[in-house]
Amino acid sequence: MESALDHTAARALLEWQVELGVTEAILDAPVNRFELADKVPAKPPSAVAADAAARDKPDPVRIAQQAAAQAGDLDALRAAMAGYEHCELKRGARNLVFADGVAGAAVMIIGEAPGREEDSKGLPFVGRAGLLLDRMLTAVDLSRDRNVYITNVLPWRPPQNRDPRPDEIAMMKPFLERHVQLAKPKFLVLMGNHACQAVLGRKGITRIRGNWTEAFGCPALPMFHPAYLLRTPAAKREAWADLLDLSARLEPAK
Ligand code: URA
Repeated sequence: MESALDHTAARALLEWQVELGVTEAILDAPVNRFELADKVPAKPPSAVAADAAARDKPDPVRIAQQAAAQAGDLDALRAAMAGYEHCELKRGARNLVFADGVAGAAVMIIGEAPGREEDSKGLPFVGRAGLLLDRMLTAVDLSRDRNVYITNVLPWRPPQNRDPRPDEIAMMKPFLERHVQLAKPKFLVLMGNHACQAVLGRKGITRIRGNWTEAFGCPALPMFHPAYLLRTPAAKREAWADLLDLSARLEPAK
């Protein structure tokens, strides 16, 4: 209903009442608000249906957990990931990027997500950052041909290489955890902030790099991402120190 008062007049009246000492706004007659609840109009059928659909929507994380748990080996895990339909990234990607290197190697590297080159080849770390990674590994007598296994937090390329979203990480993490269980590395290397955030729930790679921790029941070393090292060559010094540390721990296992 339109009020007979305009805004200025209504406000003046209200201020006058406040000046008189009014502290509560009440009506002439009491209102039973319990009765009002019965008069709330029923939701239209479309809203009820939308609520039911939201309630019955499958939980992508639970589905991923079940699919991952059922995978008995790495081939089955790859197939389970290829058949997983709840991550939107899959629709924009050319290939599933599962892993490269020697399954069962002592070192398992976890990167962030495929970029353009990785997406087109279906292999992790095969672009510029990957070339640098290979050179870094060779310097400490490691290589994906002999003693390193490599994967990513996300197996599909995010559009325009944008950062992984928390929901994407949450739904792909059960697969990553199972991947580590099945590959059984002695040591994990977490490359960069996004891998650390996904696996450890911690960011701040400048602070946490070089500090051994545990992830998925395995000793884990956070390191600078090779793409960061390409942009920040001065940080290669710390990356080198971390590689030497990894190599020293590996010595008997290499
Ligand atoms: N960066 C990553 O984190 N992973 C890749 O596979 C390529 C680049």
